[in-house]
Amino acid sequence: MKRCSAPGKVILFGEHAVVFGKPAFALAIDLRITASVSSSDQYLVNGRPMKKQHHVYVSKALDEAWNGPPIEIVTRSRIPSGSGLGSSAAVTVATIGSMLAERGRFRPETVARKAFEVELAVQGRASPTDTSTSSNGHGVLVAQEKMDGFLWRISAGDKAWSMHHRDVPGFTFVVGYTGIHASTGPLVAGVKKLVDSSRDAARAVDRIAEVVLDGVSAVEKGDKARVGKLMLENHGLLNSLGVGHPLLDKAVEACERVSYGAKLTGAGGGGSMIALTDDPVSASEAIASVGCTPMTVNVGCEGVRLEPRATRAD
Ligand code: PMV
Repeated sequence: MKRCSAPGKVILFGEHAVVFGKPAFALAIDLRITASVSSSDQYLVNGRPMKKQHHVYVSKALDEAWNGPPIEIVTRSRIPSGSGLGSSAAVTVATIGSMLAERGRFRPETVARKAFEVELAVQGRASPTDTSTSSNGHGVLVAQEKMDGFLWRISAGDKAWSMHHRDVPGFTFVVGYTGIHASTGPLVAGVKKLVDSSRDAARAVDRIAEVVLDGVSAVEKGDKARVGKLMLENHGLLNSLGVGHPLLDKAVEACERVSYGAKLTGAGGGGSMIALTDDPVSASEAIASVGCTPMTVNVGCEGVRLEPRATRAD
């Protein structure tokens, strides 16, 4: 029996622009998903027979990383699904990690590569940001060129991304989940249409790339005031690309006096926002006051890892 856990993520800077080959910066968060595999006489997921249409990520993970006898997979999640916090990537990474461990082939890079193939197969379109961040943990800088801290390069069709490790100071973020589910695919397609037809939108994407690199260096210096300012700028730029939502704006505004800055995180159109703060209690109250669900998260956590066997308390 093998058991792995993997973290969720927040994108601090660069979502959407990363699809155009620009850099992005994502942080692993201290909400984890655990998956265990053990031998069984049939394929089971959480005690029920596995069905491809219900267990899409887990069944694709099996295709990608398992060719042995039937197994039982048990998952436990602390990440709300559909909240933009990388729950599908984390469940995929944890499941693949435990399958590879069972075969004596556990390596975070192998996990990241296989997990990206799964996300791509399920979603049709994806960047390896979520799966690599869940695999490596800490901070992950996505860029076209190789830079310091190079981890691995992942390609799909004519696209390729170089992934880099970044250490992250112990920042606290409060996530505000709008409860509004918006699919990533149509939002990504909408941005592409806008950028193809508007010079201002193309300029916004270029500016986001500068914000990302400036933001990474501000994080490394622990300069929270600068990080917050850049988050607000990134939020405005994402709004100009049409992926905002009035509730996200309300939550960002509500955090003005209780945070260094805030922005939407992930695909937008709903989903979640994040605020960088030293006062998570007040930021949570501000977020709740506009009708979003607050969750305090710490960042820079470990990536996919082997865990001891489950106990009754798990
Ligand atoms: O759906 P999320 O929260 O993982 O965010 C998607 C991030 C995008 O940049 C919009 C798309 C991508 O594949 O990078």
